[in-house]
Amino acid sequence: MSRDQDEKAFEEWLTSNGCTRRLTLQSFDDTGRGTAATADIQADEVVLSVPFHLIMCAENAQRTALSQIIGESEEPFAVIVCMLMLEKVNPDSFWAPFLKVLPSDFDLPYMWSDEELSLLDDDLLREEAMEMRTFTTDMYDELNSAVFQVFPDVFCGKMTRKLFEWALDAVRSRGHWLDEARTRPALIPMADMMNHPTFPPKVYKWADYYYDNDKKQFEVYTRIDYRKGEQVWIDYGTKEDGNFILNYGMVLLNNPYNHAKVTPTDSWLSDVEKLSQKQRFLDRMGLSLDTYKVYNALPPQELFLAVRVYLMDAPLSLLDKHLFYTLEHELKVIDAVRGIIERDVESRRTIEENTRLLDEDSWSEREKKAIWYRRERSKSLKRFVSSLDELKNLCSTESRVGPDTFSQIWK
Ligand SMILES: C[S@@+](CC[C@H](N)C(=O)[O-])C[C@H]1O[C@@H](n2cnc3c(N)ncnc32)[C@H](O)[C@@H]1O
Repeated sequence: MSRDQDEKAFEEWLTSNGCTRRLTLQSFDDTGRGTAATADIQADEVVLSVPFHLIMCAENAQRTALSQIIGESEEPFAVIVCMLMLEKVNPDSFWAPFLKVLPSDFDLPYMWSDEELSLLDDDLLREEAMEMRTFTTDMYDELNSAVFQVFPDVFCGKMTRKLFEWALDAVRSRGHWLDEARTRPALIPMADMMNHPTFPPKVYKWADYYYDNDKKQFEVYTRIDYRKGEQVWIDYGTKEDGNFILNYGMVLLNNPYNHAKVTPTDSWLSDVEKLSQKQRFLDRMGLSLDTYKVYNALPPQELFLAVRVYLMDAPLSLLDKHLFYTLEHELKVIDAVRGIIERDVESRRTIEENTRLLDEDSWSEREKKAIWYRRERSKSLKRFVSSLDELKNLCSTESRVGPDTFSQIWK
């Protein structure tokens, strides 16, 4: 069957199993496949109801071959991964029409080569990807020795590392939780086909969802109006690009929640005694960090606090809010923060260089994603520097500063 036919069969399977919806699968230029409104929809309308028996979760694993080996107390995340693996190789699976329309692979950075990871130009992100690689290897090895090998009749020697990665990444990139405490992971057919809104926020359209324990169904309802044919979004949360690329393999354009991580200099104070006194003080506040997050949409409170403490002349015993916010001191702090960011920006390729590179045809998909990622980060830092200039301007013209000054800039 062609992809279109598979998708049609999937939608028929949903309907014949009691799923009601005002969504259909559709391909969009900017995001690829997503869900489109089948009619005009008003805010707060339920657009998708998925009955419990269609949901892939630990409870429903009891209806599969896994029931022979799992008890109530099994770790639900591992159960759902094993369930996906087993159902994927079972031609008679109840979920076969759904599994057929899932992507055949997920390209998350933990699978990338060291060379590809280094193109991200982000040491911390590279470390996170490598931690994910270790987590994935450990989880597979553990399941393989404690489960797959122990129950050959159930698993029939088909539980390969590749199949495991496919199942784990499906849960990582398209799973939901059935409870607020996040103890019941689940794969919810059709809800998992909804894309995260593309940015900037003026085209930000979204829906929300919850699992209704009484009705025993997962419901998605819109928060705004949609016209027939428009893409209906679901919000994956206010995440930064590093999180999106690690867990979803995607990078957005102008994500307002993006952040970059910067490392301050330790050359602020030549007096070693004073420097270590301040570091002890920051330690106690949990602020003596190697790297600080610099957000697009939020003031980097931690970085500012740390720089304020490093640069102040008065004894630490006098430290209080009033002392923090003297105009003269604050202007010094802004300049120092700006210096930190600019040093970081100068050590990287410019936005224009990255754009030029992206225009070349020779890149693989992964390489393109990595260059896109670092260009977005450079953009964030640039936007951040202009916010600092605005902040400095405001401080100078109003001749006063305080915690409110931040909120006037970072709205
Ligand atoms: C929950 S699935 C959504 C359905 C998916 N597009 C599909 O066709 O199966 C999440 C994946 O969709 C893609 N995606 C979601 N939102 C996106 C967006 N705004 N732009 C580009 N890709 C997006 C990413 O590949 C992500 O890992």
